[in-house]
Formats: sequence, structure tokens, C-alpha cells
Amino acid sequence: MEAGRTRLSDHLSQQLDADQSIHRDLGKLILDIATAVKEIAILTSQGALAGVLGNLASQNVQGETQKKLDVLSDEILIQTFRSGNLVAGIASEENDEPIANKNGGPFLCLFDPLDGSSNIDVNVTVGTIFSIQHAPKDRSPELADYLQSGRKQIAAGYAVYGPSTMLVLSIGRGSHGFTLDAGTGEFILTHPNIQIPADTSEFAINASNERFWEAPVARYISECKKGKTDVRGRDFNMRWIASMVADVHRILMRGGIFMYPKDTKDLSKPGRLRLMYEANPMSFVVEQAGGLGSTGRQRILDLKPESIHQRVPVVLGSRNEVERVEQYHREHDSTN
Ligand code: F6P
Repeated sequence: MEAGRTRLSDHLSQQLDADQSIHRDLGKLILDIATAVKEIAILTSQGALAGVLGNLASQNVQGETQKKLDVLSDEILIQTFRSGNLVAGIASEENDEPIANKNGGPFLCLFDPLDGSSNIDVNVTVGTIFSIQHAPKDRSPELADYLQSGRKQIAAGYAVYGPSTMLVLSIGRGSHGFTLDAGTGEFILTHPNIQIPADTSEFAINASNERFWEAPVARYISECKKGKTDVRGRDFNMRWIASMVADVHRILMRGGIFMYPKDTKDLSKPGRLRLMYEANPMSFVVEQAGGLGSTGRQRILDLKPESIHQRVPVVLGSRNEVERVEQYHREHDSTN
């Protein structure tokens, strides 16, 4: 190793206790995920050259058209977990039901193999999100075993396939970012102990949904847009990449608030984003970096999951802004 460069494996050895088998296994699992991420990064970077762009005829359980790269990324991760004996069960956005691994293992892994996949064909940043939980001991996992609240996650993180590939993860001891050195194939610690500033002047929301928002969200965004001429007393900027990974990564890097709130666009859906493999892992990483993750009415990590593909409202990022949005919900709910 070059002096001054901390590899992912070195970082894990520093953070985990080599005398505990669960820690050793967690370290191995994270390195396996990093290997899968490198494979997905190669495919995304080759784009049309690898023949991986475009749609398949199939839909996932959410009724969304699957992209070739969604399915390929899913297969890479499933193959990684199935060939080892660390993960007893897998749940992914692309599979209706969880998949048991006959080799067993101490962990369950829930993941979105390629988040923001509507951006694939236009060469805009996408990512992989993962959540690691304890598996039940001495038996195969059942559906209920996966439905653990977010605060029980042992580790969570995401990979972002942008101009550089980064892996950002937390094992509950801060959030740390690693950049892939394409020359050596090593993830190098480039962003130790990420801290999200408590204040921000940048918000991220799909504003085309404005007429479907609830009053507290409409109030918050309206005040941001009025900027220094109104109660906020300062101007705000807006960004929306439409890849949760990329939008949340920006917030980890420089602060901001990300919102995909409850709306009335489709009353059968209480939100757009999925709790188990989007909202929970991202809230874990954000909170480990000093931010907050909320539905607007409740801390995401305290939610009691009801189903693998459950959708929830998401408001996360800089602490003071998320608290303000929660306050607006409380004020609204107390008078309605
Ligand atoms: O997984 C869902 C997702 O692609 C997120 O990555 C992203 O934040 C959101 O949907 C984009 O939604 P919309 O297409 O409504 O902007």
C-alpha cells in the first residue's frame, strides 16, 4: 500500500474487532459487496459498448419496467451472496419474494441493485443501496425476519456510479466514503467521518408533484422559494438528479434536504421510495453523518416495517431543515 492511503480492507480492520467472528464475517461481506460494486461499475461505465442499456420486456414487483442493467446488477449481487456462506437471505427491489441461500450465514442483505435506473440510458449517475441485518440463528430466514426496524441495521451503505465510483458506508461508527482507484482496483478512504452540516440552503424535491403535496411540504418549499424576501431570510437553491443515491450523496458531501414526501398523486402509495432498501439504509448513513431521516411525522429508523417492498415518505439530510419540516407537520396535524 502507498503511504497515507487507507484501503477499505485496512479501514475495516481498524473498525472491526478481529476477535469476534461476527465482525470478521461483516468485514468479509462488505469486501464482497465492494467486489460486486466494481463489476457493476465496469458495466455502467461501458454503457452502450457493453450492450447493457435499454429496457427488458419484464416489470418488477412495483410494476416498473426493468432495465437490462437493473437485472444484471441484481444478478451480480445475488451471485455474490449465493456463492458465499455469509448471507442467509436476500431481498431486493427486483425480486417479489426474499431468496434464501442454502449455504446460510449470519446476515440478511436487502438491496436496490441499481437505484435511479431511469437515468441509465441518459448517462447520468446511478447507484446501489444496501442494508445488512442479523439473520436468525440455526434456521432459515422467514419473511418476518427481514422486517426489522432500521435502527437494527448492522451496516448500510451505497455505491455511486458517477464521474468516479464511490462507496459510502457505515457500520454504526460514523459514515465513511471510499473512492475507487480504477488503476489498482482498490477502494481508498477519501472521505473519513463525513459530517452533514446542520444548516443548508439547498433542497431537492420533484417539483412537478407540487399540486399533490400535503400542506406542510407545500409551506416549506414555498418559503424556501421566496427566499430572502420571506420568513427564511435567505435564498435557497434547488437540485434534483432523480437518482436517490446521487441526491443523497450530494447531501452527504455538502448538506441539503432531500424530500420524496407523501402525496395524493396515487392514493394507493404512501410514498415513492421503499423503506427496506432505500429509506432505511440511507437514513442510517445520513444519521451516522449527523443528519436526520424522517417521514415528516416519524423517524424513519423507528418505523415498524410491514412488508419488504413497503413505500414510505422520505425527508432526510441537514438536521435543522428536517426538524423544521417535522415541526410544520406537527403544527398542521394539531389544527386539522
Ligand atoms: O428508486 C426510485 C427513484 O428512482 C429514486 O432513485 C429517485 O429519487 C426517484 O425515484 C425519482 O423519482 P421521479 O422520477 O419522480 O423524479
